[in-house]
Amino acid sequence: MDNTEEYLLEFKGYNFEKSLVKIHIVESVDDFEIRDDDVFIVTYPKSGTIWTQQILSLIYFEGHRNRTEDIKTIDRAPFFEYNVHNLDFIKMPSPRLFASHLPYYLVPKGLKNKKAKILYIYRNPKDVLVSFFHFSNWVARLKPSDTFESFMEMFLDGQVMGSRWFDHIRGWYEHRHDFNIQFMSYEDMKKDLRSAVLKICRFLEKELSEEVVDTVVKQASFQNMKTNPQANYHDIIKYEIGTRSDKGHFLRKGTTGDWKHHFTMEQNERFDQIFQKEMKDVPLKFIWDINEE
Ligand code: A3P
Repeated sequence: MDNTEEYLLEFKGYNFEKSLVKIHIVESVDDFEIRDDDVFIVTYPKSGTIWTQQILSLIYFEGHRNRTEDIKTIDRAPFFEYNVHNLDFIKMPSPRLFASHLPYYLVPKGLKNKKAKILYIYRNPKDVLVSFFHFSNWVARLKPSDTFESFMEMFLDGQVMGSRWFDHIRGWYEHRHDFNIQFMSYEDMKKDLRSAVLKICRFLEKELSEEVVDTVVKQASFQNMKTNPQANYHDIIKYEIGTRSDKGHFLRKGTTGDWKHHFTMEQNERFDQIFQKEMKDVPLKFIWDINEE
């Protein structure tokens, strides 16, 4: 039986996770006042959101870097539409950092006036799909799938939180000139995190000393984040959101190319065909294998 509507809330053609979305925020988005120094991390789910939230928290807050302040990443750079801890965004001191999975057409108007900065992090969609498949089976508020094939069908059909991956990235890319936006890939961060951090700093106009950059890079590594409860969502998912088993981890593998262990040849060919058709006018670079140049 199809029980998708139990998990998803559709609003203006886009699917939210039903129990977590603060729909009043989305409905009144045009009244939300953007500040010049706001920064939005925009992603499709499972593309490296938490990683970027951690990087930006480390860049902006000394107390996060030296761990003198015990504030979790999710409260440093809260989700805009999934404001899990009901933070009062208006009272948040500047500079405010936000994370969001919103499509380009549902974000606050102020972003379209290029008032604030947007970092759009994208990941090759085969690894996104794999990460999302495991995540959906682990987190109780997402629809589980018995098979990888059935999740793939939902993903391609956009019957998941975040709707269709292709629509999300194309929409943002095609409207990039309306925003002050920087595109970066998960795989580039994975290949050379230091260069990625420096690129982010240039975009954000933040000058950090070599030593601080080193600290950011160290604390944003997969191993460090996985073992630092402040930097991953494990406890929030486990105790506030709910899981189906004790086995999963928010920071699961953190690799590029895990899709090769999940896709059959036929699924891969089908996916490639759709990718080529949907992405033919989007010249963003995709890395499917960590050994690729
Ligand atoms: P996997 O499930 O493939 O391991 P999001 O935060 O957008 O939900 O993305 C989660 C994905 O990013 C997970 O992918 C997670 O392991 C990965 N990730 C998080 N922090 C990372 C890091 N420091 N280095 C590499 N991957 C990271």
